[in-house]
Amino acid sequence: MRLRNDPQAYDKLEASQNFIKDPKEFKGKWHEFFKNQNPIYMEIGSGKGRFITTLAQQNPDINYIALEKFPTVLIKLIRKIPEGGLPNLAVISWDAQLLEEIFAPGEIDRIYLNFSDPWPKKRHAKRRLTSLPFLQLYEKVLKDGSIIEFKTDNRGFFDYSLEEFKASHFTLEHATYDLYNSPLLEGNVATEYEEKFHGIGTPINKLVARLHKPTENKEDA
Ligand SMILES: C[S@@+](CC[C@H](N)C(=O)[O-])C[C@H]1O[C@@H](n2cnc3c(N)ncnc32)[C@H](O)[C@@H]1O
Repeated sequence: MRLRNDPQAYDKLEASQNFIKDPKEFKGKWHEFFKNQNPIYMEIGSGKGRFITTLAQQNPDINYIALEKFPTVLIKLIRKIPEGGLPNLAVISWDAQLLEEIFAPGEIDRIYLNFSDPWPKKRHAKRRLTSLPFLQLYEKVLKDGSIIEFKTDNRGFFDYSLEEFKASHFTLEHATYDLYNSPLLEGNVATEYEEKFHGIGTPINKLVARLHKPTENKEDA
């Protein structure tokens, strides 16, 4: 259900102290928002939010940003936040294509992409969150040496993504076609989609890639 079907979606979100109404205000100032210098990890396309709300509770010394295009979905995320809020979590309704409007160069320390939409039709390839133009966009807002973690149930999309990462300034550190039979499973937090697909026996793919900015871009880091 999109916002047009639920005009009160924004009102419900605004009632949460973790929801950031105007994220542009904090461009270059996210550490001021969190009131500390801890690293900032972001999930893009956080959906109903089990992953990011779990991590934020497990790791109080890391700041988390949940970025999701559709505000209606975020209502479900907000409901997972314990009473009293989570001081290390910011929830944003935003389109990943516009990341540079809300983050300064090198402001983010890690990106998680979990079960991103595969957009199987070729004419929609530009919308895939692991396409090279998106990886180049992430490169701008990430610090040099930062990590991207990507999980998906879709083998074709995973193979496509491996090639896009290889063509980028990210170096693959780990990749598996079967997360649940891999050492990468240690510490894994399952998302809503992951639980569903793993539950019906679909192997889960995961990659971990590290950014190596070319020397001329390092001053951004
Ligand atoms: C298939 S769902 C996965 C949700 C969650 N990560 C999970 O694993 O359960 C993909 C999510 O990404 C969001 N999304 C897709 N494109 C986006 C974009 N350009 N910017 C922000 N969010 C986006 C969708 O709205 C959707 O909630």
